[in-house]
Amino acid sequence: MIRIGVAGSGSGSNFQAILDAIEEDGLPVEVVCVISDHADAGILVKARRAGIPAHHVNPAPYRTKLDGEAERLAIRMFQEAGAECIVLAGFMLMIKSGLLRAFPNRVLNIHPSLLPAFPGLEAWKQAVDYGAKVSGCTVHFVDEGMDTGPIIVQKAVPVLPGDTPGDLHARILEQEHIAYPEALRWLAEGRLTLDGRRVQTPG
Ligand code: GRF
Repeated sequence: MIRIGVAGSGSGSNFQAILDAIEEDGLPVEVVCVISDHADAGILVKARRAGIPAHHVNPAPYRTKLDGEAERLAIRMFQEAGAECIVLAGFMLMIKSGLLRAFPNRVLNIHPSLLPAFPGLEAWKQAVDYGAKVSGCTVHFVDEGMDTGPIIVQKAVPVLPGDTPGDLHARILEQEHIAYPEALRWLAEGRLTLDGRRVQTPG
């Protein structure tokens, strides 16, 4: 069993998939705290509905990173809730060194492409615009770079002729909802080994 803190900016469908996996598949994870940089984010609504402490953390004066006072506040909330691991689920702010130092090798992210292809924003749109034939999602440990950390699991999906960015994103999201619970199960069961940037997994 591992206690996780979750950070997200949007609807929270990955967060919901984790809750469902706990409920339905016995995923040995307890969500102890959820934070969002948006006061009205769906992820906060979902957390409160599930009875999980949920907090808005205002990133000001920064817009694109979790830094300064907001970073300190987030770390304190996670630590006081007893989180052992931080799960970024659609969190749109860059993570800085303070959070990484507070949870060394224990911050995970999910990205909607097969990294290292298409890091950054709207990766599904990047894939369609580029003309890629295959895309997917990646769960990885977070390091100081943008979408550069050691890869835990990837799932591929086809990019079909005529796909809009939205079509592709929907297909990728289905796989995200499988990939995150899978990675968290391995982490919780102590079955992930980090060797440089290689991650040994049972899968
Ligand atoms: C997902 O595609 C995630 O990979 C990306 O933002 C989206 C968030 O979805 N970073 P949700 O909030 O989990 O529904």
